[in-house]
Amino acid sequence: MNTTSKYTAKLPDTTGYIPYTDEENETWALLYERQSKIVVGRACDEFITGLQRLAMPSKTIPQCAEMNARLQACTGWQVKPVPALIPEDEYFDLLAHCTFPGASFIRYREELDYLEEPDIFHEFYGHCPMLTHQAFADFQQAYAKLALKATPDERLMLMRLYWFTVEFGLIQTAEGLKVYGGGILSSAKETVSSLVDPKAIRIPFDNGLTALRTLYRIDMVQPVYFVLDSFQQLYDVLHGDLMGLVHKAQDLGDLPPQFPAVVDNQSHVKC
Ligand SMILES: [Fe+2]
Repeated sequence: MNTTSKYTAKLPDTTGYIPYTDEENETWALLYERQSKIVVGRACDEFITGLQRLAMPSKTIPQCAEMNARLQACTGWQVKPVPALIPEDEYFDLLAHCTFPGASFIRYREELDYLEEPDIFHEFYGHCPMLTHQAFADFQQAYAKLALKATPDERLMLMRLYWFTVEFGLIQTAEGLKVYGGGILSSAKETVSSLVDPKAIRIPFDNGLTALRTLYRIDMVQPVYFVLDSFQQLYDVLHGDLMGLVHKAQDLGDLPPQFPAVVDNQSHVKC
């Protein structure tokens, strides 16, 4: 597992307050303003509704306490600041207890458009809106409970499912193709390109088997996306025989990667 980071976690004081510098707040404001225009018409309705329910400040980085008050009122979830990269078991255990582990630092200005590690804009703006949606939040909790019990090989497969849904999922709606994945929705470039780039491969999610057999990389715009017909598909997968599907995917083997050869692409616990 990758446990190195060039960023340092911002630590809360005894009251839970995390102080941010003017420059860090300005970075948030830049990201927030830009992304709030881009998600219109591109993010799914559930995300936009979640964004409205959270009512995050646009000029300053939100504090966990204010996020938690709103999240808990919606779904009972909360966010907890953690170091940029944490052990898998700790990560899944937090999710299993309705606690979203969130990086507390914000990206450097020179990485405004892309960074490999999850920062607080990714966590709060990209992920928290969908955590106001009860069924989607339940999906993440149930996924984490399964991951905690899984063997290392099974867990790698489950992490692919998470990657291609919670992080980089697309959904077909009556209003057209939309984004719900937090990895996409915290990236200005990918929020657009995931929907329209002709080079991107968009595959129907179906029962999730193909996603389980698909490799990914964290250090590039995704070459492959999986498209839901409805969120019901996610719940059907999770409440069906998901581990049976994982074993079937293991038997069938990985599909050829849609990117140049790379090593260690499965070792990262989260985005
Ligand atoms: Fe993420």
